[in-house]
Amino acid sequence: MILDIDHVGIAVDDLEGSVERYRRTLGVEPSHRERVEDQGVEEVLFAVGTSFIQLLGALGADTPVGRFLATRGPGVHHVAYRVDDVAASLSRLRSEGVRLVDEVPIRGSRDTTIAFVHPKDMGGVLVELVQAAR
Ligand code: CO
Repeated sequence: MILDIDHVGIAVDDLEGSVERYRRTLGVEPSHRERVEDQGVEEVLFAVGTSFIQLLGALGADTPVGRFLATRGPGVHHVAYRVDDVAASLSRLRSEGVRLVDEVPIRGSRDTTIAFVHPKDMGGVLVELVQAAR
């Protein structure tokens, strides 16, 4: 079951510069920063209501976000839905024939459990499912 939009992930070339721009222009303060080596990203979250804007900097060129930046440039990278049970959501999507990036849930930042769903079956949008830490 989808509970909310958890975050919108935005790929940026210059993480520190982008954080400063968000602070100045939108008047929001970063609420969390985390380096996720598994995914090759450093992320900064800004709380907006019950959701977040997530700025994503690549830890190298040969990472998913690094490749995204090289081919498409900075911009919206994925939309993440907060769900109550990632495994149950994956089962449902699989039974509907939706292609999955992650066949089983993996660990995300903030001790969340996540999985990515292939953009080809989601209208060209990379979708992430996020289950909050218990
Ligand atoms: Co995300």
